[in-house]
Amino acid sequence: MSGFVIRRVSGLKGSVSIPGDKSVAHRAVILGALSKGKTVIENFPFNEDCLSTVVVFKQLGISINKRSESVIEVKGNGLYGLRKAVSPIFVGESGTTFRLMTGLLAGQGFKTELVAGKVLSGRPMLRVTRPLRLMGADIAGCRRNQDEYPPLTIQGKVLHSITYRLPVASAQVKGAILLAGLYASGKTKVIEQMATRDHTERMMQLFKAKFSAKGNVVMVKGGGELVSPRKIYVPGDISSAAFFMVAAAIVPGSEITIKNITLNPSRMGIVKVLKRMGVKLTVKGKKVSGREPMGDIVVRSSILKATTISKDEVPSLIDEIPVLMVAAALAKGKTVFKEVGELRVKETDRIRSMTENLRKMGGKIIVLKAGDSESIEISGTGLKGSIVKSFGDHRTAMSMIVAGLAAAGPVKIEDISCIKKSFPGFVRAITGLTGKLS
Ligand code: S3P
Repeated sequence: MSGFVIRRVSGLKGSVSIPGDKSVAHRAVILGALSKGKTVIENFPFNEDCLSTVVVFKQLGISINKRSESVIEVKGNGLYGLRKAVSPIFVGESGTTFRLMTGLLAGQGFKTELVAGKVLSGRPMLRVTRPLRLMGADIAGCRRNQDEYPPLTIQGKVLHSITYRLPVASAQVKGAILLAGLYASGKTKVIEQMATRDHTERMMQLFKAKFSAKGNVVMVKGGGELVSPRKIYVPGDISSAAFFMVAAAIVPGSEITIKNITLNPSRMGIVKVLKRMGVKLTVKGKKVSGREPMGDIVVRSSILKATTISKDEVPSLIDEIPVLMVAAALAKGKTVFKEVGELRVKETDRIRSMTENLRKMGGKIIVLKAGDSESIEISGTGLKGSIVKSFGDHRTAMSMIVAGLAAAGPVKIEDISCIKKSFPGFVRAITGLTGKLS
């Protein structure tokens, strides 16, 4: 068997540190660039997505330097200190960069063209451009299939505030509106029907923006200069840690400690669901870094039982669903993921990528229509070896590696290079806990 082959291992043991949280890191760079002076960002994840944000700001005249393997320094020019890029800006495949920057660029005094890579060019942008246009933004994109797609040409305008009720539970959309709100006259309010990750809000508070939050309403007042905290430590990414949590839970004889992981309540869905599934998981050494809580997560191998993931829980674990589907395939009983249609518009259609792969491994999966969305039911059957695909998606690839660690036979994945989008050192980190893999 050529390609990347994973065989069952006898246990994961030891401790592992995970690169910084992607969502937090993007926002640290953005607000660092918009405040005056230096911001040092520690535990910065050098993955393709976060480097996209760095490249974008360099093109907008911001100096960003690598200080060491995991530290960067951003020299901000203040709220009104960005410069017009000399050419269209290529954002690569980072959806978070693209959507957040669309909001930020809408309020600048210049025009920018944002160009995306092949896959991101097929991901929907109307969810961001629609509210921004309500604020007075001048954006031209590619309209088709009742949506809008990159590239986007953003002619900066004087913006005005809005009160916007989010129709899609999306932290990227919320973040884009709040960033535009920094440049708008008056108070921009975003109302959430379902809570999504709140890293933009926490970072704005850390940088002393005129920000407030009450219940499900967040508000930012435009025009105030930001003040850098000078140093930010980015807690480990719980979406990356999730692969290790599930791996340790499903491989008998495992006990691992995952160090310094974000414990932000809006990201704790994975922890809550794994505990409901019977996973022996404990959190210790809680502390706060900037505005973000973090701590160590200890996981031991466990007998898993099925659970139901409710619609309201989905935003708190949206990126962890692929690996939770692996856990579900190995749990006793029927696990239900309610209204997870958003998975269709991620880096790949993750409902398709994960159902196709897990079915090849013997998984029993049903996808059902549920209102405007779709739900997934997985009956725990155990998993056998097979040849599966990454579909060019980092989280599908890492989920299938985790599945291979517990499957009855070898699992071959034809291409795992996509993993560098979020976690270039993933295979090395897993190998550190299991010994040789492939
Ligand atoms: C992110 C929000 C989520 C998530 C993505 C990162 C963010 O996307 O899936 O990986 O940093 O705001 P949506 O806003 O599309 O739900």
